Amino acid sequence: MNYKKKILVTGGAGFIGSHVVRLFVNKYPDYQIVNLDVLTYAGNLANLKDIEVAPNYRFVKMDIVDAESITNLFQFEKFTDVIHLAAESHVDRSITNPTEFVMTNVIGTVNLLNAAKLIWKGEMEKHRFYHVSTDEVYGSLGETGLFTEQTAYDPHSPYSASKASSDHFVRAYGDTYGLQTVISNCSNNYGSYQFPEKLLPLFINNIQNKKALPVYGKGENIRDWLWVEDHARAIDVLFHKAMSGSTYNIGGHNEWTNIALIKLLCKIMDKKLGRSEGESEKLISYVTDRAGHDLRYAIDSTKLQNELGWTPSLQFEEGLEKTVDWYLENKEWLENVTSGDYQKYYEKQYEKR
Ligand code: NAD
Ligand code: DAU
Repeated sequence: MNYKKKILVTGGAGFIGSHVVRLFVNKYPDYQIVNLDVLTYAGNLANLKDIEVAPNYRFVKMDIVDAESITNLFQFEKFTDVIHLAAESHVDRSITNPTEFVMTNVIGTVNLLNAAKLIWKGEMEKHRFYHVSTDEVYGSLGETGLFTEQTAYDPHSPYSASKASSDHFVRAYGDTYGLQTVISNCSNNYGSYQFPEKLLPLFINNIQNKKALPVYGKGENIRDWLWVEDHARAIDVLFHKAMSGSTYNIGGHNEWTNIALIKLLCKIMDKKLGRSEGESEKLISYVTDRAGHDLRYAIDSTKLQNELGWTPSLQFEEGLEKTVDWYLENKEWLENVTSGDYQKYYEKQYEKR
C-alpha cells in the first residue's frame, strides 16, 4: 500500500506515546506509523497489544542516543514526519542520575534533528518535526498566574533542564536549517498505561496493596492534570494544523494540591474496593520533600483552544474514576511492571525518605 505519510513516533511504547500511536494507527489507516523505542523500564509493548497487528503499524527497537543507527534508519525508511516523545521522564530519577537525562533528552533529540535535516534537505517545507515537551520548562509559579507560550524558561530539575535544552535545539534547527518544527508544552497527564513511579498509578497501586502513601513535604504543591487521551487528541490537532515554528501550551485548567488529589483518590478507592470511608487516608505518610520541588504548575491553553478549537473532553472526577477502574481491571499489567527491577528502584527511592 502507498501510504500518504510515514510517521516516525519515538517513545511509542511509553505512557503518552502509546496513546498517540493508538490514536494515529486507528484514525489514519492511510498513514504508516513506525514506533521507535529502546524499551527502557518505562517502555512496554504490552501497552500496544490491541493495535500491534494493524497493517499500518510497525515497531523498531532502537536507542535515539545511537546516532549512527538513527541516521541509517532515516536514510532507509525515508520518514515523512516525526513525532518525538522518547525521553527519560521522571523527575526523581533525574535527581539521582542527571547524565542519563542529558543523553536521552538532549543528545537523543539532537540525533533525531540531525537525521531529519539530512534526509529532508532541499524539501524541508514538505516535512514536520513535532517535539513533545513539558510545562516544567517554565519553572514554578507562585500562588497566582498561568504559564503562557511567552513565559520565560526557568527549569529547576535536571529533567526539566534537559527538556528545556531539547526545546531550544528544536527551535534552533527551525531557525538555522529551516526544519519545520512544532513544540507543545503540556501539564501533568493521567490515565491508563502510566508507569507506577508517577504519583497517581503509584498511589493507586499502594492503596490497593495497603502500602504507605509517601506524600512529599506537606502535599501543598499544585499540579494541573490532563487526561492522557486529551493530550493525544491535542497532538493530533497540532500535528495537522499548527503553523511551522510555533509553540502551544496544552493543559486541563484543572489545578489540584497533591494532598487534595490524594484524598479524593483515597475516597474513590475506598468505594471501589468496598472499604470503609477514611480507611485509605490512614495510609498517608508525609516524607522528606523532593529536592528543588516546584510549587505550582498551571497552564494557559487559550491559544490552542481559540486558534484550533481543542478543549479537554473529560471532567477530572470522571477521568480519575475511569483511571482507577482501568488499573483495578488490569492487575496483570500492574503486576508485570512492578516486579523485578522496579522493586529495587522503589526500595532505594523511598528508604532514605
Ligand atoms: P514515559 O517515561 O512513560 O515513556 C518514555 C518512552 O521513551 C518509553 O517507552 C521509553 O522506553 C522510551 N525511551 C526512553 N529513552 C529512550 C531512548 N534513548 N531511545 C528510544 N526510546 C527511549 O514518558 P511519558 O510520560 O509517556 O512522556 C512522553 C513524553 O511526553 C516525554 O518527552 C515527556 O517529557 C513528555 N511529557 C510528559 C508528561 C507527563 O505528564 N507524563 C507531560 C508533559 C510532557
Ligand atoms: O508537568 C508535566 C510533568 O509531569 C511531566 O513533564 C513529567 O514527565 C511527569 O513525570 C510529571 O512530573 P511531576 O514531577 O509533576 O510528576 P510526579 O507524578 O512525579 O509527581 C506529581 C506530584 O506529586 C509532585 O508534586 C511530586 C508529588 N509526589 C510524587 C511522587 C512520585 C509525591 O508527593 N509523592 C510521590 O511518591
